[in-house]
Formats: sequence, structure tokens, C-alpha cells
Amino acid sequence: MEIKKVGVLGCGLMGAGIAQTAATAGYETIVREVSDDLIAKGFGGIEKSLAKFAEKGRLKESADEIRGRLRGTTKFEDLSDCDIIIEAIVENLDTKRETYLRLDDLCKPETIFASNTSSLSITQMMSVTSAERQQRFIGMHFFNPVPIMKLVEVIRTILTDAGVYEDAVAFANGLGKTPVRTSDRTGFIVNRLLVPYMLDAIRALEEGVASIVDIDNAMKLGCGYPMGPLTLGDFVGLDTTYYISEIMFNEFREKRFSSPPLLKRMVMAGLYGRKSGRGFYDYTDPKNPVPMNLV
Ligand code: 3HC
Repeated sequence: MEIKKVGVLGCGLMGAGIAQTAATAGYETIVREVSDDLIAKGFGGIEKSLAKFAEKGRLKESADEIRGRLRGTTKFEDLSDCDIIIEAIVENLDTKRETYLRLDDLCKPETIFASNTSSLSITQMMSVTSAERQQRFIGMHFFNPVPIMKLVEVIRTILTDAGVYEDAVAFANGLGKTPVRTSDRTGFIVNRLLVPYMLDAIRALEEGVASIVDIDNAMKLGCGYPMGPLTLGDFVGLDTTYYISEIMFNEFREKRFSSPPLLKRMVMAGLYGRKSGRGFYDYTDPKNPVPMNLV
């Protein structure tokens, strides 16, 4: 099946990035949010990002032409004729299941449902939909910042139709991304490897192995990673990291996925990283983050 029209659920950081990427790649794209204010906020971020790409001459057409393919809505009904719907709403299984139940009735039978979840079970989401839709249900996990990061994990369940899966892989290529194939096991590939690494960096800090800056510099300069693990935690969001680690620990019961007490305390204290202004660093001056005194 050729995918022409893309629906995106949620216009937060990930949803907006996915919508921008789809419109830039030439797809007619519609994004659904709960309020006009949230659509305006998400589209504001898209404007800024497109402006950055345009400034560097990295767009094949004008930002206006790309925006012309992008529309916001608060109505689920407007997504009924989409060929694929990528869901990037809050990471809450009940909310996702309610949304899928509603969309299953509204959408045409061919619509592919794809969740951008980082750690929830695709199988658990899909099971509220009809038997036919369950064969057209996959995961498509994008990475932050979506317009820059090249990877998409394409996730199949034990019921995903082989042709639908290939269509989704081809669509990820069409978005200008590199797809990797994986199956519905908690954390997929990236978070299975990344989350224990980030948690270990926090444990190293707790145990006095080194300072925040030295742990970050060690991995940045010693291994060529673009960000050190503690900076990355602040970037991803420490509340999100904690939440993912809890889900992974509950699934696998392995120490490597367990949340270090320091992470838990930071989240309880509202230190969520960049988005809240403080995490392992204080971002009062975002261009010059200052390490916090945490241990
Ligand atoms: N739109 C357009 N351009 C953007 C952008 C955006 N949203 N964000 C960054 N850029 C551009 C910058 O303008 C800059 O362009 P230039 O090189 O031409 O000047 C370029 O990207 C690099 O940005 P910066 O100079 O600001 O900073 P960095 O060199 O540090 O790059 C980064 C920023 C791309 C975020 C890089 O640090 C990086 O790759 N970090 C790791 C990100 C990562 O690991 N993401 C995955 C997180 S895990 C996840 O998402 C999964 C979830 O389930 C947890």
C-alpha cells in the first residue's frame, strides 16, 4: 500500500518532530492535539526548526511549501482517511488504549496504526482494536530531536501482517530515516542498551567514581558520544528516564534496569532536566549549564 496521508497524534516534542519530518518528506500531514493552544505551541517549534534548516540551505523547497502540507486539528474525525497514524501522546497505557479504541471505529480499514512508545507494550495497545486492525498495528519509535536523528525502530508484534510491516519499513525510508527491524520486546533495541548505560552513569556518580562533568567528558571525549550520559539524561528528561526504567525493571526484573535512588530523589524533587531548568545541571543560562551539587 502506498502511504500518502499521514496522521500524527500529539503535537508535543516528538509529535511535532514527526509531523515536521513527514511534511518535509512530501507527505500530506495532519496533527491532532487536545487544544488549539497546544497545536500553536507545537507548530511554533516546527517553525523554529524549519527556519534552522532553511538557514543552512538544507531544505529542498521553501518552509512555506512544507508548512502547506501540514495541518493541525483537535478532531479525531479529521484523521479518518489517513493511510498511517503515528501516535505520540502521553506514555500512559490506558490513555493510549482509549485513543486506539476510538480511532479503530473512525479510520478506514486500511489505516496502519503506529505507536511511538519508547517502552510500553505495542501488543497491549493493539489488543483493544479489531482483529483486522491488529494485523495493521506496529511500533515506529523515533528519537529526539526527530528532525535530526536518523533512526526509526520499526516494531512488529506476533500478529503484524508481513506486507504491512514492509510498507512501514518503506515509509520510514521515505521519511529520510534509517529503519531498523525489531519486535515487541520492552525497550526494543535502543532503550534496552541505552537505559542501563544511563542508569549506570548515575550509579557511578552516586558511588563517587567521578564528578558529573568528568563522567560526561569521559564518554563524550573517550568514546566520541555527542553528549555525556548525564547530559543525555537531562536532555531526554529524568522523569521519562525514571519512568522507562520502572517499566523495564518490572518486565525483566534485572538490576541493570533498576532506578538508582539518586534518580528517584531527583524526580521527586522536580529536577527533570532541561525541561524543568535543573537536573544534573542548572540551565539558568542554557548555553552554559552549571553542574549541580547532588551527592
Ligand atoms: N531542528 C533543526 N536543527 C536542529 C535541531 C532541530 N530540532 N536540533 C539541533 N539542530 C541542529 C543545530 O542547529 C546544529 O546545526 P549545525 O551543526 O549545522 O550548526 C546541529 O543540529 C547540532 O546542534 P547543536 O550545535 O545545538 O548541538 P550538538 O552538536 O550537541 O547537537 C544533538 C545536538 C543533535 C542533539 C546532539 O547533541 C546529539 O545527537 N545528541 C544525542 C541525542 C540523542 O542521543 N538522542 C536520542 C535520545 S533517546 C530517545 O530519544 C529515545 C527515548 O525513547 C528516550
